[in-house]
Amino acid sequence: MEVVEIYSLDHQGRGIGKVNNKIIFVPNTLPQEKVEVEITKEKKNFLEGKLLHILEKSPDRIDSLCPYYPTCGGCQLLHLPYLKQLEYKEEKVKNILSRYHVDIPFQSIVGSPKQFHYRNKVTFQNENHELGFYEENSYHFLKIENCLLLEDKINQEIIKLPKDRGKLIVRSNDTEVTFEPNQKIMHTIGDFSFQVSLESFFQVNDSVTLLLYQKVKEYLQGSKEDTVLDLYCGTGTIGIFVSQEVKKVIGIEKNEEAIRNAKENAKINHVQNIEFRCGDAGLETAKLAKEITKVIIDPPRSGLNEQTIKTLIQLAPDKIVYVSCDPMTLVRDLNILKEYYLLEEITPFDMFPNTYHVENVVSLKKLGS
Ligand SMILES: C[S@@+](CC[C@H](N)C(=O)[O-])C[C@H]1O[C@@H](n2cnc3c(N)ncnc32)[C@H](O)[C@@H]1O
Repeated sequence: MEVVEIYSLDHQGRGIGKVNNKIIFVPNTLPQEKVEVEITKEKKNFLEGKLLHILEKSPDRIDSLCPYYPTCGGCQLLHLPYLKQLEYKEEKVKNILSRYHVDIPFQSIVGSPKQFHYRNKVTFQNENHELGFYEENSYHFLKIENCLLLEDKINQEIIKLPKDRGKLIVRSNDTEVTFEPNQKIMHTIGDFSFQVSLESFFQVNDSVTLLLYQKVKEYLQGSKEDTVLDLYCGTGTIGIFVSQEVKKVIGIEKNEEAIRNAKENAKINHVQNIEFRCGDAGLETAKLAKEITKVIIDPPRSGLNEQTIKTLIQLAPDKIVYVSCDPMTLVRDLNILKEYYLLEEITPFDMFPNTYHVENVVSLKKLGS
């Protein structure tokens, strides 16, 4: 057992302290705390520890409302008041930008209208006819009866969900829950309705999704002259959301089921100036002509690969709006794009309250245009 003074938080919300001059990361601790820690991992350059006891408490610490916290591992910040969570995320994004030399005007983080019960999708594990989660980095099963992150509708139905399927993906909206692979569910984002299959990607927090899409539209500054590429378009949501302002939208996505949803979503919302192509982002973009004037990119956590970024630079759109769920891959990509594009502004969004994750939207304008 070691006594550690925590002086900062890392990018995963873990407290940082030192043991014999070596950095130690301790989940569920806060700056200004003195804690007793068990060392759980020893690496050449750092240690990891488990909180045993708090000797001196941070004035910011609150009691978590969740009986599974922090064992479950799904949340990392439940011991911080919501405004402090937002401060932490804003600082985290600023630190990453400055550490990797990305200089860009910064807008305050946009908070989530709901701190709890915002998640419209969950993947449960099954064990012994119970539903639950595996604890972080383990196969240790934790039975869950009610999760603070999940929409109320899912919590209400947990008791009725099948408990013999190994893994169970569940989606919800205000009125229904789906878990059968062939079922679809409708989500309303602003004036639009989107049909989503179980395995297609859809943003997890509907109220923040609306705010985020509004920001994308604002940054895009679409006009009737523009042909817009919606790269990594999922079920076609962002493209459909901006379609009224522009001449045409082309959506590209590799998941065939998401493309089927996207085509259906264009019909449901009576959008006729949009088309979808199923394939790899880089390869499909390479086939596009210079007709593309503006691009929206919303890649997975891994960001853009070298080929895709090269192709985008060759395509040379006047404007790129980059939606990112991982600030580390975002700054990596911005460092390449900044040779060709002015970094106009970044706005973080709290899509995932109570976790360390943060979404960002960035506006880029072609240099010299
Ligand atoms: C973060 S989601 C964005 C979805 C959509 N823009 C939205 O807001 O709902 C990323 C999407 O990229 C797709 N994807 C991942 N790798 C891809 C690739 N190499 N080429 C095309 N699409 C890809 C995934 O299937 C997923 O639908």
